[in-house]
Amino acid sequence: MIAYIQALGYPTYYMTLTILLLLLTYWLGRRLTMRKMEHAVKKAEHDYQEQITNLQMELSGKVNMLEGMVEKLKLSNQELNRLSEIRSKFMSIVAHDLRQPLTSIQGFTSVLMMDNPKDGGGNNDQIALNNILKATDNMNQLMADLMDISMIESGKFKMDFKEFPFNQLVEDVFTLQQVNAQKKGISLIKYEYPTDVLIYADRFRISQVLNNLIGNAIKFSPEGGHISLRYFVDEAYLVCYLQDEGPGILHHEQVKIFQKFHQADSGKDAQKQGWGLGLSIAQEIVNAHNGDMCVTSAGLGQGSTFWFRLPIKPMETKI
Ligand SMILES: Nc1ncnc2c1ncn2[C@@H]1O[C@H](COP(=O)(O)OP(=O)(O)OP(=O)(O)O)[C@@H](O)[C@H]1O
Ligand SMILES: [Mg+2]
Repeated sequence: MIAYIQALGYPTYYMTLTILLLLLTYWLGRRLTMRKMEHAVKKAEHDYQEQITNLQMELSGKVNMLEGMVEKLKLSNQELNRLSEIRSKFMSIVAHDLRQPLTSIQGFTSVLMMDNPKDGGGNNDQIALNNILKATDNMNQLMADLMDISMIESGKFKMDFKEFPFNQLVEDVFTLQQVNAQKKGISLIKYEYPTDVLIYADRFRISQVLNNLIGNAIKFSPEGGHISLRYFVDEAYLVCYLQDEGPGILHHEQVKIFQKFHQADSGKDAQKQGWGLGLSIAQEIVNAHNGDMCVTSAGLGQGSTFWFRLPIKPMETKI
């Protein structure tokens, strides 16, 4: 290149000057670019730091807010527990205290019934006294259910486990329920069952489950219907089915009817004889035995089949 410039006739110092100027321009250009880049990096760093600080401030504000909310929730939770305890106590006191006057009313009514024999011209009195007895029976049942619910809610619903023959329990419940079934011309049948099954459970509570299921089946079935019970052993469980020819239960109601106070749309007249508590208590009892309970029904007018199973041998209890 030098030889080329010399060939053009430029003196050497011009040539050197030109080269130096070129180098200087290049160097200044680079420095300027580097400065610009440095500036851009510093600005980005600064913006980034500012963003982080803002986020940290926002976050600490939210953490403070959350801590405040947790504190408030704790207080509301404590208050809810306190109120729930008061409600349970109130329910059990009311149920307990109402039972005593009810027992007196029942006792006096029975005495009056004996003092007013039918053939003594007191037929209307007998009907009235009978109605009083029926009403007090219903109230007694409600009191018992409310006490069970309050015990369930306060965690005091304890089971008394003992071994007993299941068939004997079914016989006892059937003897009691046959009277109600016959009043409606309903046949209560038991079939396909083993007689020698011993189960480890709370006899009183399991009879409560059966009484409620059979009681419902009788209450919701039309006159002249059939109710059948069958049970068998499946591995470690006793499985029991109760089938009726009643109004049936719509699919979307089949879980809800086990909730407290829920009554399905079917069988409206029969519902007037209850409060929607029986099944929720029955399910609690079965769950407390580590068992399961559910219902199947093909729909309205198709009858229902209630099903439950209980472990035959002792298991760790849930309640
Ligand atoms: N066998 C049945 N056939 C049709 N519907 C039923 C049957 N058993 C229960 N049900 C429905 O489930 C609802 C809840 O039943 P549950 O036994 O809990 O209450 P209840 O019988 O109405 O009142 P309670 O048992 O408190 O006296 C009933 O109101 C009814 O709508
Ligand atoms: Mg019931």
